[in-house]
Amino acid sequence: MTQIADIRFDAADLDTFAELTGLLAVLVTPDGKMDGGARKVNALTRKALNRAAESDAFEKAKDGDVMRLSFPAGLAADAVLIVKSPAKPDQTIARRIGAQLAKAQGKDALTVLLGKTARAEDIALGLALRSYDFNAHKSGTKSEPGAITLLVDDPEATAKAAKTGMAIAEGVFFTRDLTNEPANVLTTDDFAARLAAMQDLGLDVEILEEDDLKKLGMGALLAVGQGSASPSKVVVMQWNGGGNEAPFALVGKGVVFDTGGISIKGAAGMEDMTMDMGGAGVVAGVMRTLALRKAKANVVGLVGIVENMPSSTAYRPGDVLTSMKGDTIEVINTDAEGRLVLADVLWYAQDRFKPCGMINLATLTGAMLVALGHENAGVFSNNDDLAGAFLKAAGSEGEGAWRMPLAPAYDKLIDSNIADMKNTGGRYAGSITAGQFLQRFVKPDTPWCHLDIAGVASVKSETALAPKGATGWGVMALNRLIADKFEG
Ligand code: BES
Ligand code: MN
Ligand code: ZN
Repeated sequence: MTQIADIRFDAADLDTFAELTGLLAVLVTPDGKMDGGARKVNALTRKALNRAAESDAFEKAKDGDVMRLSFPAGLAADAVLIVKSPAKPDQTIARRIGAQLAKAQGKDALTVLLGKTARAEDIALGLALRSYDFNAHKSGTKSEPGAITLLVDDPEATAKAAKTGMAIAEGVFFTRDLTNEPANVLTTDDFAARLAAMQDLGLDVEILEEDDLKKLGMGALLAVGQGSASPSKVVVMQWNGGGNEAPFALVGKGVVFDTGGISIKGAAGMEDMTMDMGGAGVVAGVMRTLALRKAKANVVGLVGIVENMPSSTAYRPGDVLTSMKGDTIEVINTDAEGRLVLADVLWYAQDRFKPCGMINLATLTGAMLVALGHENAGVFSNNDDLAGAFLKAAGSEGEGAWRMPLAPAYDKLIDSNIADMKNTGGRYAGSITAGQFLQRFVKPDTPWCHLDIAGVASVKSETALAPKGATGWGVMALNRLIADKFEG
């Protein structure tokens, strides 16, 4: 997988600043104040930092913006990166500082003079997250990323504080890699193998194959995958870091490619459907983070991994499927496949684990993009406490999430003449009818949230902490939710 940058923490030695090579970053407050390290650089450059801090450009810059001073006299460094930062940056600004530095870094070595600046661990997290680069399929020599050193007053304490962030960054990278990977590489087998490899981190990973799923009666999930040469699977990942209490369940849609099936999608943009396993990718990333930071919580991650293809063995519009729950489903559109996969995995999760709560993630509906664009995921829930806790966690991690309604009144849109329900509810309220469909597979006493991440899982322009492509949205929020709920 894509490796996170190796970030080192060290004590500053003012006498070495003139000789440091690569890029040297310093923090300057909006009113031009600098701490000891920056003042030393200012002196070595004969007050170039003072002049920069008085410039119009600096005045106009936002907190976290970086000004580059190239080939400065008095320093061996190729450039000084002047970062505009309040004396006490909050979490968002600290992460932004890291992200902006990562963008400015390129392949050079980077030394950041932080002294006693608070939230050095958040600057480190921003650096790690924004330096992600998915280059697995680019030929040519891959130059090593430049080393990153943060010079701080208490390197040991800062390194310790940054450890959780590095576990988070590695989870996010895992999610991004999975979501960016093309479908000829991330086949259902390959996906399951990458999850199985997480056993080395102490996770218990089980792969349920088609025979197992048939025995369980997962007729909805199996129908979606039956047109593909790649076998359908359910992968169960358990992290038992808590006591004997029931686990919290995370469930993900893992459609490695969604052609639409017999109700085939148009050609334009179909290539984006390599990200239709993004929900499963987030579940996998969270499980990785929990294992890496040895979370004191019991969490089980379950993902339904299938490929939706048109073929002579594919399921068809008009087919009636029997879910594991026993409810029957009339297929109106084979492109509404995600809810069929989730129906069986949600039921299985509750049947087997009796979870104390459950959150599913899915790139479920195009209608979600119509409603919320790329800024927020939709949050659908049967439980105000869980929804509130999730929204709070997402807010504190800067991951956009917005509550959407569920209500019995929408249910009639998915009533079927010949089966218990149909798999689409027409053009209007498309994301909500999908949520209503899922809710039919959630026991009323299971606190549950459905996160429709169709708009946020992968985007075509950069976001605050990610380059364009897969974002890893949700890993931080869910990790925070689990920490708040079970480890507080
Ligand atoms: N995977 C798609 C939803 C999607 C669309 C995700 C765009 C990310 C970006 C899903 O399986 C799908 O095709 N949904 C249909 C449902 C419809 C047929 C009721 C849709 O949204 O058009
Ligand atoms: Mn689809
Ligand atoms: Zn889909």
